[in-house]
Order: sequence, then structure tokens, then C-alpha cells
Amino acid sequence: LTIRAGAYDDELIKTAKTVASPGRGILAMDEGNVTCGKRLNSIGLENTEANRQAYRTLLLTPPGLGNYISGAILFEETLYQSTVDGKKIVDVLIEQGIVPGIKTDKGLVPLAGSNEELWCQGLDGLASRSAAYYQQGARFAKWRTVVNLTNGPSELAVKEAAWGLARYAAISQENGLVPIVEPEIVLAGDHGIDRAFEVGQKVWAEVFFYLAQNNVLFEGILLKPSMVTPGSGFKEKATPEQVAEYTLKLLRQRVPPAVPGIMFMSGGLSDSEATLNLNAMNQSPNPWHVSFSYARALQNNFLKTWGGRPENVKAAQETLLLRARANSDAQLGKYVG
Ligand code: 13P
Repeated sequence: LTIRAGAYDDELIKTAKTVASPGRGILAMDEGNVTCGKRLNSIGLENTEANRQAYRTLLLTPPGLGNYISGAILFEETLYQSTVDGKKIVDVLIEQGIVPGIKTDKGLVPLAGSNEELWCQGLDGLASRSAAYYQQGARFAKWRTVVNLTNGPSELAVKEAAWGLARYAAISQENGLVPIVEPEIVLAGDHGIDRAFEVGQKVWAEVFFYLAQNNVLFEGILLKPSMVTPGSGFKEKATPEQVAEYTLKLLRQRVPPAVPGIMFMSGGLSDSEATLNLNAMNQSPNPWHVSFSYARALQNNFLKTWGGRPENVKAAQETLLLRARANSDAQLGKYVG
């Protein structure tokens, strides 16, 4: 029997608990330059470093954001950036009690030998990058891989996704970063909710098998699952109660209570669906903190309201606060639409 004792264990546990604290969740804003560019283009702004800085400054500076947001996932550019007023982004977060996080994966590429599926790159050099991000103030990390239902998943794709997540988690913990473990089960497809449940069972079984094999400290990780829903092309939508029932059943079967927090992605659900589903999941006590780590469901309305115009900044920031607060209420199970 080997007893695990990592240099950062106490700190990892503390960080994970801070991020998974009552009434709070994560603002995901770690889009790479291409995706962030698409968001900016949609409101007629060019994809320049200055515009990305302006956008991210606005996202992080609504007064009182820290009441609802416990962590922000940044893209590397933002971790090293200052606000438009010249204040370090990391300091802006820390002053609000928001833990800085960093996307450490290097994106998806075709998985050779599979059924046109994908795998996630980024393990090469991950230890030294993680150490540098810690130095810069990051305390948690995110690695997003995907499992696709339209032409999969093959055994190979699931195994590769789970193994990659487990190696990333071990390396992150060795360098002081709490790993967010994110195997996205993609919404696209015309499958029903039972199929999503079945694939979720397979994926989470493998993820936890390899996390254990890699001696990952379960008390020092966070999960970022997809909610269990029918595919986006399925003939009917599930109700929040159905989503909650399936999702919690899956998590109870697969996720040990040692894991402090489950921070769902919005994954293409609408803003209100994401909130209502989360609220339904918090109607009775769970073994873990069940919360949000939304990108689109927090940014969509903000972006539209802002439209790149200085005169709309105040209204846009209020919109963001409103969505963050709705999700905070949903974390506490007391959202009333
Ligand atoms: P969405 O909430 O937009 O799905 O994004 C979360 C995320 O970080 C995906 O990796």
C-alpha cells in the first residue's frame, strides 16, 4: 500500500473547497483566441488583443461579482494580462475572492485509428507550464476533452479521454493546481436521454478508474460534467426534473463523495435551461457541492447587451450579475424564475 503525500495536498483541498463554496460557481472565460474572436465578431468587433482585453476586463469587473463567482477560468493570454486600466487581472480576481484558474489543455485533434473522433493534446510540457501558471497566481486548471455520440464513442476514444484526463490531473496536482476534470459528452446528436446516460456511465467509470490508478487525490479535484440530456437533435426536450433525476443518478453511481465539487458546463443549453436544471439538482442535499462552470450561459446576454459600445457597459455588467445571481440561487436550490 502506498500512502500518497503530495507537497501541495493541503492547499489543493483548500482551493477546491473555496471554489466549491455555497452559493458560488465558476465563470468560464477561457476561450482560445479563435473562439473568443467569433464572440467578438458576432457583435462587429475585430479579434485583436486589445478587444479581447476589453471584453475580459468587462466580464471580471462588475461590482459584487465575487458574491456569486468563486473561480474564473482564464485563457493563458488573460492570466498574464492587465485590465484596460493597467491592473493585473490576477489581482482583480483575488481582491474579489475569486480564485484564478487556467485552461491547460492544447485543444482537440483527430484521434488516429478511431471513427473520426477526437482526442485532447497538451501533456507534453504540462508540468513546467503548470508550475509557471502557479507562479503567476493560478490555483486551478481545466482540461476539456470530448466524447461524441454522433459517430461514437468507440472504446478507444473513451479510454484515451479518460487516460489523458487522469495524467493531466496527476500533473496538475503535483504542481499545486486543482484539476477540473472535464470529459464533455457532446450535446450534438439525435440520441435520447437513456443513451446519454449509458455513455455517461461508461465515461465516468473509466475516468475514475484511471484517476485512481494515477494516485490522484480525489479531495483535490473538481468535475465539470455535461448534464444528462437528450441530444440537441432529439424530438423532444427533457424537463429540468428529468435532467436532474438522470444526472444525479449517474453521479451517485460513479462519483465518490470525497470529490468536493461538481461544476457543470452549460454545453449549448440556453441560459435559462442551464439555471433551471441546476436548481432542480439542488432540491435535496447532495454528497458534493453541485454548481456551475458556465461560459456561454453566462456570457451570451452580456455580449449581446454590450455590443461593443461604451454606453452599454453598465447594462451589460448588470445582465451578467443577474445571470450569475440566478445561478447562485440555483446552486442553493432556491431559484425562482
Ligand atoms: P459552456 O458552459 O459554454 O459549455 O462552456 C464551458 C466550458 O468551459 C467548455 O469547455
